[in-house]
Amino acid sequence: MNQPSPRNILRWFDPRHRQPGTWAFILNRITALGLTLYLAMHLIVLGKLAQGPAAYDSFVALAHSPLVKIGEMLVIAAGILHGLNGLRVAITSLGFATRYQRQLLWASTILSGILILIFARAMFLGG
Ligand code: HEM
Repeated sequence: MNQPSPRNILRWFDPRHRQPGTWAFILNRITALGLTLYLAMHLIVLGKLAQGPAAYDSFVALAHSPLVKIGEMLVIAAGILHGLNGLRVAITSLGFATRYQRQLLWASTILSGILILIFARAMFLGG
């Protein structure tokens, strides 16, 4: 069953019979990869500062485009989801509140949703 085979690899992408904790793990990994990619992009953009004010100003102009704003919102959402879920994983991995894993998962997910909505409102509706 657990031997490497093309059929078993396809099973990775089968969304059936998965627990909420597995979905949280998948989301944590996707957001982790997204944040890492963003960190690399962020450092490249900051490198523009070394090319003088004109190069940076041209980036700042681009940063006002709606597409970049949506990208920024995704980074904020990924940071909130990964951060709060990461705290939950850290707490239970250290042996604290293990009886309340399920409640902590829902609490971190609901809190993430609320914080994401607050940020989205501020970003897109201005307050
Ligand atoms: C509040 C801040 C953060 C907390 C509390 C946090 C916590 C965690 C925890 C606990 C894990 C292990 C998850 C597991 O074993 O199930 C993890 C994985 C990871 N985190 Fe974070 N993290 C934070 C911010 C970040 C940031 C800013 C980045 C990237 C720039 C990042 C990148 C990663 C990566 C690449 C992994 C490995 C993912 C995987 O193996 O699936 N984390 N984080």
